[in-house]
Amino acid sequence: MNTLKVCILAGDGVGPEITAEAVKVLKSVCNAKNYELQLTEGLIGGCAVDAEGIPLSPATVEKCRAAGAVLLGAVGGPQYDSLPSNLRPEAGLLAIRTKLGLFANLRPTKVFPILKEVSPLKNKIIENGMDILVVRELTGGIYFGEKGVTEIDGEPSAYDVMMYSEYEVERIAKVAFEAACKRRHKVTCVDKANVLESSKLWRRVVDRVAADYPNVELCYMYVDNAAMQLMRNPSQFDVLLTENMFGDILSDEASMLAGSIGILPSASTGHGTLGLYEPIHGSAPDIAGKGIANPLATILSVAMMLRYSFHLENEALSIEQAVEDSLFFGRTPDLADTAYPAKTTAEIGSFIAERVAEILK
Ligand code: NAD
Ligand code: IPM
Ligand code: MN
Repeated sequence: MNTLKVCILAGDGVGPEITAEAVKVLKSVCNAKNYELQLTEGLIGGCAVDAEGIPLSPATVEKCRAAGAVLLGAVGGPQYDSLPSNLRPEAGLLAIRTKLGLFANLRPTKVFPILKEVSPLKNKIIENGMDILVVRELTGGIYFGEKGVTEIDGEPSAYDVMMYSEYEVERIAKVAFEAACKRRHKVTCVDKANVLESSKLWRRVVDRVAADYPNVELCYMYVDNAAMQLMRNPSQFDVLLTENMFGDILSDEASMLAGSIGILPSASTGHGTLGLYEPIHGSAPDIAGKGIANPLATILSVAMMLRYSFHLENEALSIEQAVEDSLFFGRTPDLADTAYPAKTTAEIGSFIAERVAEILK
């Protein structure tokens, strides 16, 4: 019998609401297929600060390591914004990524045909199809470089260093090229090589890695242009490879092509077997506790988990199909319109859990 060990880190804000729905769907898959599901729960972010005084305790890290995969909701909230950087909820998220060696963050963006009307872009721009995989470097760059406050000519000043080693670039570039081989064989490396020394290093290393993938077309694009091209002609992109901060920003931008940030999942992986799966959005404090957060990003993250951590392709596809079907049944307010009146987070989650069971029957 297949045993799935999953550690749930619900986190803050809408985190507990959306992970509850994703767990419903995961349980439904395991029920339908007679898999044993072993769930554990851990604290991360603001809830960990409240309970333990720190955003990520060794106990949570241990729980993650003991699991086959981790499902994370989101962290953060305005009540924690004045804490020192190392105690902020976000520090817990950055720490779990480093501690688990999760240097590769995969953020797929697709337009579900039925959501074309919801996308703020004109139909003629997205109707060519838009299917982009953002491969975001996750444990290096400006997030993790030296930072501090200082004085320049008596003026209070601050700095954050963006630094990359060749090794860090090489391993993420390989992830992007491997992904492109299974897709449309194109990698666009997004950087700021007209200004940044670190981007020049990226280009040298990416060129070298590309030589091992003659069937993959490589092009480079400056990040400011890429932000514009995503709106102008998103179907030109297949795999978009980029550093940590650019990837964070561009993936939020790309999410709106699909209709809402509430539907984009992600997978974070490394050289080990353990993966962490989370929506790309945050804790959405403005809608937390109202039962209206879109659970699709987290549910689709479970599909990525089944695919990458447990090699259950059919089960992953069944979730993706059920999510698409749910768009005809009802939507949370971020996607609702007159034809599809708003439903709650829990109603959508329950629909998908039942639909998955039917598909897998
Ligand atoms: P956010 O992604 O939380 O919210 C941005 C906007 O998108 C808000 O209007 C929100 O209501 C909406 N939104 C987000 N997720 C949604 C969903 N599932 N359904 C419907 N609407 C949704 O970004 P923010 O407001 O900049 O950040 C809020 C907090 O979350 C901050 O503390 C930030 O640091 C944190 N954050 C955490 C993560 C993470 O845990 N991975 C990611 C981004 C931001
Ligand atoms: C994300 C978030 C995080 C990031 C923050 C909360 C540290 O925006 O997961 O996209 O920038 O990586
Ligand atoms: Mn982000």
